[in-house]
Amino acid sequence: MSADLEKVLITKEEIDAKLAELAGAIDQDYAGRDLLIIGVLKGAVMVMADLARALASPLTMDWMAISSYGAGTKSSGVVRILKDLDTDIVGRHVLIVEDIIDSGLTLSWLLSNLTSRGPASLQVCTLLRKPEAAKVAIDVKYVGFDIPNEFVVGYGLDYAEKYRNLPFVGTLAPHVYGG
Ligand code: XMP
Ligand code: MG
Repeated sequence: MSADLEKVLITKEEIDAKLAELAGAIDQDYAGRDLLIIGVLKGAVMVMADLARALASPLTMDWMAISSYGAGTKSSGVVRILKDLDTDIVGRHVLIVEDIIDSGLTLSWLLSNLTSRGPASLQVCTLLRKPEAAKVAIDVKYVGFDIPNEFVVGYGLDYAEKYRNLPFVGTLAPHVYGG
């Protein structure tokens, strides 16, 4: 393990097992429906890739890139679309796939934005959630792991664009972020 990392929070094996479990539930819930999964770039790339392969349901994939303005690492809820969907979601069964829900402000904005486009249904699947950091209540149907309010990296999540390629989720050593 890199000296920059403090500890492994969730192993690759735990992620794989959890995604298989979530995929089973999603397959059941969307049986007979045409599912569109939307990944939020860049963090959700790994979850999208692995969840999509664990799903048996026929599906299509699309991507959005959004940036959340705020001081430092804190999200403000003021969101700008950097890349919009290629797909018209009117009448579609849409599942947003996220890496992490922290304050929930970004997702809350995304939910109202996508709701206004008239999907048949709209649900959320996130690998990680920090319950102690929540600033808005969001109904998230599929949650992988509730984690402590610590900054995590790996499996798509970055610190200054690094560590996204780690196969596990870990916490950073304080010296890396000046703690
Ligand atoms: P909010 O607060 O709006 O923020 O729910 C969600 C976005 O903030 C990023 N984020 C993190 N990124 N480690 C990261 O690498 C973290 O612990 C973390 N917490 C929040 C992430 O982009 C997420 O989509
Ligand atoms: Mg993200």
